[in-house]
Amino acid sequence: MGNPGSLQPLDGPSPADHDASQEAESARHARLLGELRQELDDTNRGLIALHTELETTRLAEARLAAMVASSDDAMFSLDLDCRVQTWNPGARRLLAHTEQHITGQPADTLMSDAARAALRTALEQIRSDRRAESYACRWLRADGTEVDVAVTVSAMRDAGGGLIGYCATARDITHQLAAQAELAAARADREVMAERDRIARDLHDMVIQRVFGAGLALQSTAARLPHSEADRIHTAIGELDATIRELRTTIFDLHQPAQKAASLRAQVLDETSAAHDRLGFAPSVEFDGPVDAALPDATAAHLLAVLREALSNAARHAHASAVTVSIQAGGDLLLEVTDNGRGLDPAVTRSSGLTNLRRRAERLGGSFDIVSPAGSGTHVRWRIPLIATDPALTS
Ligand SMILES: Nc1ncnc2c1ncn2[C@@H]1O[C@H](COP(=O)(O)OP(=O)(O)OP(=O)(O)O)[C@@H](O)[C@H]1O
Ligand SMILES: [Mg+2]
Repeated sequence: MGNPGSLQPLDGPSPADHDASQEAESARHARLLGELRQELDDTNRGLIALHTELETTRLAEARLAAMVASSDDAMFSLDLDCRVQTWNPGARRLLAHTEQHITGQPADTLMSDAARAALRTALEQIRSDRRAESYACRWLRADGTEVDVAVTVSAMRDAGGGLIGYCATARDITHQLAAQAELAAARADREVMAERDRIARDLHDMVIQRVFGAGLALQSTAARLPHSEADRIHTAIGELDATIRELRTTIFDLHQPAQKAASLRAQVLDETSAAHDRLGFAPSVEFDGPVDAALPDATAAHLLAVLREALSNAARHAHASAVTVSIQAGGDLLLEVTDNGRGLDPAVTRSSGLTNLRRRAERLGGSFDIVSPAGSGTHVRWRIPLIATDPALTS
């Protein structure tokens, strides 16, 4: 029999076993806790990485949106049916359609037939997995006027690379084309000057020397002839002298730059400042587009005549305190003369000057109208097509 003080229960763990199992339990809890903490840390890190990624994407999108919004170029997106989806402020400024009006409209709305064909070619290139070439063409503004643009079209794709639409950028190249035209004209002038110099040199070195030599030969012949016959030869020598003098003048003229007609802008400004005295104030003048490059000389003469008559009418009949002259060259040439005077008197039926303005427009395939909205002076609008102008009609 054992010691009663050290008696152990017969069924159940001993206190030592109990302690050991508690220890094991705590250790298991501690391990589980550790694993949980680790899992939480990992999740936390994952969330932070995801948040950073989202933030970076959001910032990149915000930067892109700011660039699109602040760009001077027209930027817009099209769906697969070529309908406008988005429209930036640059597009509104360049093409004058509001976002509200153009969204959902076919891109064709912005283009004439030639420009539509160019867009179709670009879209075909994109659909056959190629990069579309940039191209230059004319697009239509909301008011029907045309603007020269350089267009770039590219694909919009989803994450899997599937085509979901297109984005297009159009840049106004009106001034660039005008500068190119001026450069080409300057080059042509330089070539003409070089040719004139060459002709002048030939005249000086070859023709004058020959005529001079012939004169000398005639002089020595005359010295050996009787007076009566020598007189006739001296007359011929005088003619040769005169010819040499004329040749020298021609050479001098050839070295001068070709006299160029003043540019149309300069002539328009001359007309408006000439009207200053008759009006009692200076009309304001605005130009838009390559006015000088766009207009053949004969057409420019019509425009100046129309401007003169409209200014004369404003001075004689309008009693205005302000007149605005505006000339826009795009697909059409549009001259507008607006005054803030007393407007047209419906009782006046005589109109020889205005009839002439109408005739000049009609001869050039264009149109003329004069309107006088109540209380807002008189508005003269003279429009002619530039592309279809027939030179035979402009004489
Ligand atoms: N800017 C204007 N403001 C007010 N009335 C105008 C204006 N322009 C034309 N008119 C009116 O229209 C009429 C016809 O103009 P039109 O130029 O055809 O003839 P006109 O100026 O009277 O004579 P002219 O044959 O010498 O030009 C004018 O007589 C005038 O009453
Ligand atoms: Mg008149």
